[in-house]
Amino acid sequence: MSAAHIQLDRQGRLLHFLTVEGLTPRHLTEILDTAESLRGVAERRVKKLPTLHGKTVVNLFFEASTRTRTTFELAAKRLSADVLNLNIATSSAVKGESLLDTLRNIEAMQCDMFVVRHEQSGAAEFIAHHVKPHIAVLNAGDGRHAHPTQAMLDVFTIRRHKPDFPNLSVAIVGDILHSRVARSLIHALNILGAGEIRVIAPRTLLPAHIETLGVHAFHDPRQGLRDVDVVVMLRLQRERMEGALLPSEAEFFQRYGLTEERLALAKPDAIVMHPAPINRGVEIDSRVADGPQSVILEQVTNGIAVRMAIMSITLGHHARPTAENV
Ligand code: NCD
Repeated sequence: MSAAHIQLDRQGRLLHFLTVEGLTPRHLTEILDTAESLRGVAERRVKKLPTLHGKTVVNLFFEASTRTRTTFELAAKRLSADVLNLNIATSSAVKGESLLDTLRNIEAMQCDMFVVRHEQSGAAEFIAHHVKPHIAVLNAGDGRHAHPTQAMLDVFTIRRHKPDFPNLSVAIVGDILHSRVARSLIHALNILGAGEIRVIAPRTLLPAHIETLGVHAFHDPRQGLRDVDVVVMLRLQRERMEGALLPSEAEFFQRYGLTEERLALAKPDAIVMHPAPINRGVEIDSRVADGPQSVILEQVTNGIAVRMAIMSITLGHHARPTAENV
């Protein structure tokens, strides 16, 4: 069974959140609308809801993370869950314990949700296959494959600024080849009926046959950025590169870096996004990253409400087990 199938129950409801692929506009809209209703929690005097009271969420991060791990933790805490952060660098994984053994031990601690980040594509899906049926698994990024909660916070941020999806033009710029963020975002935009998706990158940083995902490929930002509503910049993911795919960072900035001059090619009210971490002077100029069109920090804030929504939707479906998933 594929990740797209294992995450749904027989009624097509989300049990896990492993990939955006295979989901319907209804699934995505339910997440976005729920996130919208949860956004206000952060403005309350007591920033908490009782939704996950008595539940235990485990953050299993086998790969570096700043925003994703902390916003998952905050999301769980704002829903009143207990949170356990397993720091893999200091755990027994470094002593050779297998992923399945680590999993069995944490399962024995009566947890209800695993949030998984792993350098191997398919890791969250593997865990979802092996956990007890009452446990929900959320993918916080697996290799180059998928980063579905990032995609949801990205489309949530876009929808708040540019709700007219059929007439929307989005450009994703930079290291598409190694980017799970780009892959998941492309799927989400397609499912939600975005008018046009462009990818802009040197040939060496574009996957072969990228057009089959329903995007237009450009190698020259002067053409690709013209009249777009949204510009999503990506980091050069050197940790995933084999061999020399690039001449130099300076040259990359010169050809693809988002400067004020290049951004002027997009619509005047275009928004600038980046999943972060940003590398100033490599893929984005500081004046753009900190400029009036940047919504990069809004994406971080929105990530909390979106993750709260995904946590409450998936665990909500576990709380009322049907005969098949007991
Ligand atoms: C991204 C990731 O880890 O895939 N960051 C994130 O989750 N905000 C993108 C990246 O590392 O460049």
